Amino acid sequence: MDVIPLGLGFGAELRGVTLSDVANDDAAYTAVRAAFEEHSVLVFRGQDVTDDIQLAFSRRFGPPEVTKVGSMGTGSHFVILSTFGPDGKVVAADHRQSMRAKANQLWHTDSSFKRVPALTSILSARIIPEHGGETEFVSMRLAFERLDKAQQQRLENSFAWHSYAHSRSKVAAGLATSAEVDALPPVCWRMVWRNPVNGRGAIYLASHAYGVEGMDAADGTALIEELTAAATAPGVSYLHQWKQGDVVMWDNRATMHRGRPWPAHEGRLMIRTTISATEADGVGTVAPPSSQAAE
Ligand code: OGA
Ligand code: MN
Repeated sequence: MDVIPLGLGFGAELRGVTLSDVANDDAAYTAVRAAFEEHSVLVFRGQDVTDDIQLAFSRRFGPPEVTKVGSMGTGSHFVILSTFGPDGKVVAADHRQSMRAKANQLWHTDSSFKRVPALTSILSARIIPEHGGETEFVSMRLAFERLDKAQQQRLENSFAWHSYAHSRSKVAAGLATSAEVDALPPVCWRMVWRNPVNGRGAIYLASHAYGVEGMDAADGTALIEELTAAATAPGVSYLHQWKQGDVVMWDNRATMHRGRPWPAHEGRLMIRTTISATEADGVGTVAPPSSQAAE
């Protein structure tokens, strides 16, 4: 296996390894796992992806999430990001599926609004539009390391509130259904997630974050916006231009990502598997403050 860094201080392309190798071979998994801990975003090209292969690969990294209420394919291990309707035609730009694609175009990390956050997401391209539709990544580890010591220390002791309803409300009122709102009450996480393998801290933020514990609402929002703007400043991102057979996995503890737009009349179908974080992934260090623990 060759690890080819993308040249941005994070991210690497892996060559000479397939998803099936990782699913079936301990040594291949160990090597890919080490690259994942180090590089945060891993690109695999020319893969022969099926749902079964993607899931078998994903399971190596931990327990697969079951997709939440309100998702396409709910109750399965597959998040279906699709702009095709049941008749196979591309849905209109104002259709709920298109609006949900727009919500994915806000900088975020996956599942920070869940009781159990995500370690990694694995995304495979199944039908790609001709123009646009890239996925863009930034390193929240590098963003943390760009802060000065005082700012780092302040964040180490800060907690942010995350909610699914919040990020959806940025796109359209009512985009989160009442069933989703009920199933997903706000959760509060440490703003720095320290990787237990290499000790490096990363700012843990997302479009879902709406407030900072102990700060008034406006100051909390301002801090979140300021950190997000610095983390996603021009020149620091990796833009993945999808090709058939591409699979990209990312570390939700240490990156943010966003989808990029594409012409609404072109269809796009991506399949994502998501692996929950466990204590070994440092989830225990993302302790909620007493206000939540007391619930
Ligand atoms: C995701 C996501 C963006 C995209 O799969 O979690 O945010 O480009 N995707 O589809
Ligand atoms: Mn996402």
